Amino acid sequence: MGLAAGVGKLKTAGAAENRARLSDGFYEEIRPRLYRRIARELRGAGRILDLGCGSCELARFLVNRYGKEVTGVDVADGSFPDPEQMDDRARRRLRCVKADARQLEFLGNEVADAAVAKWALHEMDRPREILEEVRRVLRVGGELLIVDFPRDSLAQRLWNEEYYTPEEVSEILERAGYEHVSARLIERRQVVWAKGFRAGAEERQS
Ligand SMILES: C[S@@+](CC[C@H](N)C(=O)[O-])C[C@H]1O[C@@H](n2cnc3c(N)ncnc32)[C@H](O)[C@@H]1O
Repeated sequence: MGLAAGVGKLKTAGAAENRARLSDGFYEEIRPRLYRRIARELRGAGRILDLGCGSCELARFLVNRYGKEVTGVDVADGSFPDPEQMDDRARRRLRCVKADARQLEFLGNEVADAAVAKWALHEMDRPREILEEVRRVLRVGGELLIVDFPRDSLAQRLWNEEYYTPEEVSEILERAGYEHVSARLIERRQVVWAKGFRAGAEERQS
């Protein structure tokens, strides 16, 4: 085992120890707090992209509570909200688009202040390509926030999918060209919280 893999294993060890003590409803219980934390992290962003938005629940929260302008993108539109059920403000500020996040050609360059992917990165094929495309859409200085289940977490026991370690998420972000990348475990080590920024050409050269 290489040094990085060894460190990754040590860091996720806490997640595995904690998961035995957590109830199956843990992720539901933390949801309101996590939403507020995401809103706090993205407080400076007016235009937000929600990648793999599912039912656009987070997007609607950001629109309704914080007046953000959100574009939700998902390959499946089966659970998108019905615009008829939304009030005028939500209809004006939220749009849900059925698309592969790898091809955001319906969005121009630098049109978003931030992008978030919640519980979605682990489901995306070729995530680096997706995050490169997202970088094009982000303005200089814009933030990408990844919130996902980590390997060996409670989620692994509940749903047994393939998840990344924080180190792997960092690596994907760095390879996709993001700067000031950081990734850590939060919420009793059951959630990866990772971020990176789109730097300007000048900063990248220095
Ligand atoms: C586990 S769901 C999470 C949904 C939502 N973000 C949430 O927190 O409830 C992951 C979502 O990612 C979407 N997805 C997977 N690959 C995608 C891609 N390449 N582009 C856009 N959406 C994708 C799936 O269709 C699914 O709705």
